Amino acid sequence: MSDCAIRKNSLNLPETIWWENGELYLLDQTLLPLTVIGEKQETIEQVSESIKALKVRGAPAIGVAGAYGLLVGIKADRELPVDDFMARVESQAAWLGEARPTAVNLKWGLKRMVEFAKQQTVANSRELWDLMLGEATNIHEEDRELCRMIGVHGAELITPGCGILTHCNAGSLATSEYGTATSPMYVAHRNKMPFRVYADETRPLLQGARLTSWELQQAGIDVTLITDNMAAHIMSQGLIDIVITGTDRTAANGDVANKIGTLGVAILAKHFGIPFYVALPYSTIDFDMPEGGGIPIEERDPEEVTNFGARRTAPEGIQVRSPAFDVTPNELVAGLITERGIIRPPFKENLLTEYASLGA
Ligand code: MRU
Repeated sequence: MSDCAIRKNSLNLPETIWWENGELYLLDQTLLPLTVIGEKQETIEQVSESIKALKVRGAPAIGVAGAYGLLVGIKADRELPVDDFMARVESQAAWLGEARPTAVNLKWGLKRMVEFAKQQTVANSRELWDLMLGEATNIHEEDRELCRMIGVHGAELITPGCGILTHCNAGSLATSEYGTATSPMYVAHRNKMPFRVYADETRPLLQGARLTSWELQQAGIDVTLITDNMAAHIMSQGLIDIVITGTDRTAANGDVANKIGTLGVAILAKHFGIPFYVALPYSTIDFDMPEGGGIPIEERDPEEVTNFGARRTAPEGIQVRSPAFDVTPNELVAGLITERGIIRPPFKENLLTEYASLGA
């Protein structure tokens, strides 16, 4: 595995994913904020491990990484006849799609690549691989634009002096550029709106502490880090006017799966009368999932709970649960901030109307 220098995006933050001279590179987010370094992905097995280990993470980002990762996996097959090549495309996509179960974007990105490949008429597999690279680049650039538009619509929710709570990292690092939950913050900040963000630390893997507080600080946004169990107290002090989180999969009825702890934040927000918003691109909506109860919840290594970083903090042999996500029911959600605008309840009807053109 080879480390390499990073690339910066238009927010002057590191790119999460880039393709250079026919090779895929991922920012290694497990090393942030102390070390900012990229890693070349030599094989599809390495890409899958990088997704599982959260070197690349966040729903939109793993959708993009999956699309490019498929190209890495079928690069050596370009001399095969087209039918054999297509069989490899399908089997490799199915395999890579199993790397993480909750965020629908990974399977969405891979499905889009496979469908695209099936529709092409080509002379040989090399030509098809080149066309598929164009489609992966489209997915990547489209994600940049979708997230930018989430910010344009969501920024209207940010009022002068307001306090915003966010959970996990639905930031630039979780997407191709602006983030989802953070995009309204970046747009409001660019518009010189004064506001303060409270970032939940997000146990067990500290995406809020390591990633969100770091990227917002880098961008010059007023951000205060709190541990997860401080959220109720901070809300009770009147410091939070709005909660904005991301989501890994939004069911057709507007139930939202997101990082473990999000459900608790949403319940707290209801108690304190604070509107709870969720930001997402259309690629995170699963119209085949009628409601959130059916969303598969990833269960992670117990060591992520028994250890704090490298240090063990629980007794040997203790029983542990480690669900990485939870589902917030739609009745706790004030609105879904999307690239098309803010979608309000009733979500089932309004999502269907808004996305009818996608065959929803
Ligand atoms: O386990 P992670 O770090 O991939 O979890 C990420 C989240 O829960 C994010 O909030 C979600 O993917 C939305 S990213 C724009």
